[in-house]
Amino acid sequence: MDAQAQLSSLWSRGRDFLGTEVAILGGAMSWVSERHLVAAISNAGGFGVIACGSMSPDLLDAEIKGTQALTVKPFGVNLITMHPQLDALIDVCLANKVSHVVLAGGLPSGASIKRAKDGGAKVICFAPAVVLAKKLVRSGADALVIEGSEAGGHIGPVATSVLAQEILPVIRDVPVFVAGGIGRGEAIVSYLEMGAAGVQLGTRFVCATECIAHENFKKAFLKANARDAMPTVQLDARFPVIPVRALVNKGTDLFMETQRVVIERFNKGELDQKEAQLEIEHFWAGALRRAVIDGDIENGSVMAGQSVGLVTQEQPTVDIIKELVDQAVTALQLRAAS
Ligand SMILES: Cc1cc2nc3c(=O)[nH]c(=O)nc-3n(C[C@H](O)[C@H](O)[C@H](O)COP(=O)(O)O)c2cc1C
Repeated sequence: MDAQAQLSSLWSRGRDFLGTEVAILGGAMSWVSERHLVAAISNAGGFGVIACGSMSPDLLDAEIKGTQALTVKPFGVNLITMHPQLDALIDVCLANKVSHVVLAGGLPSGASIKRAKDGGAKVICFAPAVVLAKKLVRSGADALVIEGSEAGGHIGPVATSVLAQEILPVIRDVPVFVAGGIGRGEAIVSYLEMGAAGVQLGTRFVCATECIAHENFKKAFLKANARDAMPTVQLDARFPVIPVRALVNKGTDLFMETQRVVIERFNKGELDQKEAQLEIEHFWAGALRRAVIDGDIENGSVMAGQSVGLVTQEQPTVDIIKELVDQAVTALQLRAAS
């Protein structure tokens, strides 16, 4: 079998599940993964995913329709489970015949999974540990993403390499896609060989030509090394912070300061526990928009994964995917030759 055929076979389960040429999901990135990047990834043979983030059902409806105007290929929608209008957002996906719904940002309820599935969509969930992976499969998840702490954005504590070893040998009933820290095709091959159905990349797609992120945001990616993408730090155990991996900047310092001020106000009785927690949680939502859309990369949140060091030029999405596939094929060829 030649290397190209070998790769096709290695990720055939993922390709069949997604309905794509290559089993590469463009991980949903709030403010970044809108119609242009999503359609570009799907048109290039991958699987684009709209980041719903905090959008209202009406805005999501417009974004889905806008994406459908740019591609006839399949794409998905990523919904955050704690969104107060989650059911309405699922219904918008179903009304628009979105083929795959990704439920992210916390464990989805069985009812949410069922709602999407009953409406005809396939459901993809994030599994942060083996027990939860098994539970999600029992609840009806059609596929899982395992995302390690190398990833950009909100992250869990465990590295991709370890999650892959824990989950890939155990979960065989549904396709599992590996995310976090993947920037080259060689890594894709290695996860496929460990049993992954495909992969999900976010950071690598930020500097796609079609991506609408502000040029300052893209420049920051081009300049950064792996070590610049660090997780945020929690100041007080009473106020848990889900770590966010982002390029270190003034915004990172400001987040520490915000936590300090909010905790001080809580200690003085000016805020109750819930209010204080919300103020801390809300910090990055606005900050990501400031960086991605307004280009304020000093004070905003420049969420990026450790693979940011592998992002070296702005290039069309089709070239990014071709590069990844070529690297994967070359890796397989070199192995066969040696
Ligand atoms: C700027 C940025 C924003 C992100 N926003 C989201 C999001 O809204 N929802 C989500 O599920 N994941 C989000 N992610 C994670 C990506 O979907 C993807 O899983 C991750 O980027 C993969 O790891 P990588 O960055 O190492 O490629 C975000 C990542 C980045 C870099």
